[in-house]
Amino acid sequence: MKKITIIGTGYVGLVSGAGLADFGNEVVCVDINKEKVSQIEDGIIPFYEPGLNELVARNVETGRLSFSTNIGESVQESEAVFIAVWTPMGNDGEADLSAVEDAGRVIGQNLTDYKVVATKSTVPIGTGEFIRSIIRENSKGRAEFDIISNPEFLREGAAVSDFMIPNRVVIGTDSERALALIKEVYRPLFINETPMVITNIQTAETIKYASNAFLAVKISYVNELANLCDENGADIHTVTRAMALDGRISSKFLHPGPGYGGSCFPKDTKALVHQAKERGVNLEVVKAAIRANEFQKSRVTEKLERLMKNDLDNKTIAVLGLAFKANTDDVRESPVIPLLTFLAEKGCNVRAYDPKANKNMAKLFPDVNYCSSIEEAVKGVDAAVVMTEWHEFRGMDLARVGELMNEKVLFDARNLLSPNELNRIGFRFENIGRSSVR
Ligand code: UDX
Repeated sequence: MKKITIIGTGYVGLVSGAGLADFGNEVVCVDINKEKVSQIEDGIIPFYEPGLNELVARNVETGRLSFSTNIGESVQESEAVFIAVWTPMGNDGEADLSAVEDAGRVIGQNLTDYKVVATKSTVPIGTGEFIRSIIRENSKGRAEFDIISNPEFLREGAAVSDFMIPNRVVIGTDSERALALIKEVYRPLFINETPMVITNIQTAETIKYASNAFLAVKISYVNELANLCDENGADIHTVTRAMALDGRISSKFLHPGPGYGGSCFPKDTKALVHQAKERGVNLEVVKAAIRANEFQKSRVTEKLERLMKNDLDNKTIAVLGLAFKANTDDVRESPVIPLLTFLAEKGCNVRAYDPKANKNMAKLFPDVNYCSSIEEAVKGVDAAVVMTEWHEFRGMDLARVGELMNEKVLFDARNLLSPNELNRIGFRFENIGRSSVR
């Protein structure tokens, strides 16, 4: 097993650090944010991620996982350093690499002996060489090192299982020595024959963007199909169910909704288009997916306005679901944000409920009434909108909800609810791509 430093304690760094400790490595997760590090040391994980508390606690208990703000000291004592800092979107879709650059600098300054430097953060293709040059410049030849691209494929809400049982591990490197070391780091996965893709750095960096952009294209494709089904009388549920029976298509990521959000798809699709444009390549398909995703958010407000017979002014609306997806408290790029903006412009009184994301959305929309249950949120409202695919909404008691509402009007933007049941209870309702199903 190896001594490892993980730079960055967000959901990639923390999940990867705790996971690598669980594989038997000795891991220190470091961050410049002292408050965040002391919170985590007190067992408080600063975001909701199912199973992460237990994974961290178990490995702190065994002494394999610890935390520090002294990045330099931790790097000096490590055999492998993972860069897991954030790479937010800068202007025109370009990724902001300042945190990556800072990490490279501190690694170079503390390169006391041979180390492998693995980048987990999603970085533009070619960044591996950028990191190599920063470390070389700051290490002044003190010791040798090798660079690896080791992108993560973690989904928020499923990050722990995605790390512990990955579909594949991608390793990009030009060094046999680095490859041997990283195989030791991931030894349990090698033993259970997890597929390993060993390639060069830029190919590994490309695999990450290619995967995320394809998933975004798939979502935009099914959203556009759903919009067509609304107009041609087809049922998108049956369309996608039949499509999924073709193994080449699969059932995954064929659920229409209000548009994709999160800290990855919006950023990674734009970053990929930007990188391609810099190399004179036009990614029409990915650009179309980005445009279709923006359109889908306006489709939600258009369908709600139509459902309300163009009379939304000063109405009371319940918004069920605030997070960009279920099983997370993350509201970054959530499609609920443009909806709340639209409702505010209409002077609507909004009552919102999300099992986990109320607090985070309240930072952006303090004037919304945040409720602690479905029943509290729908009480006396003129309409309800289901925006996040939480199981709790899938299974809610529609008869009870109907009784509590002022008007039985509902927009199911995730197709969670049975149109037949909504009809039977007397709802006037909309969904996505199932307008013919009653
Ligand atoms: C994504 C990738 O899945 C993951 O591999 C990568 O490492 C990080 O980015 P994440 O953004 O956490 O993960 O969530 P994901 O489950 O991919 O969903 C992204 C968005 O697409 C969410 O807004 C979700 O609601 C939406 N979505 C997903 C759909 O609208 N329909 C679907 O069928 C699936």
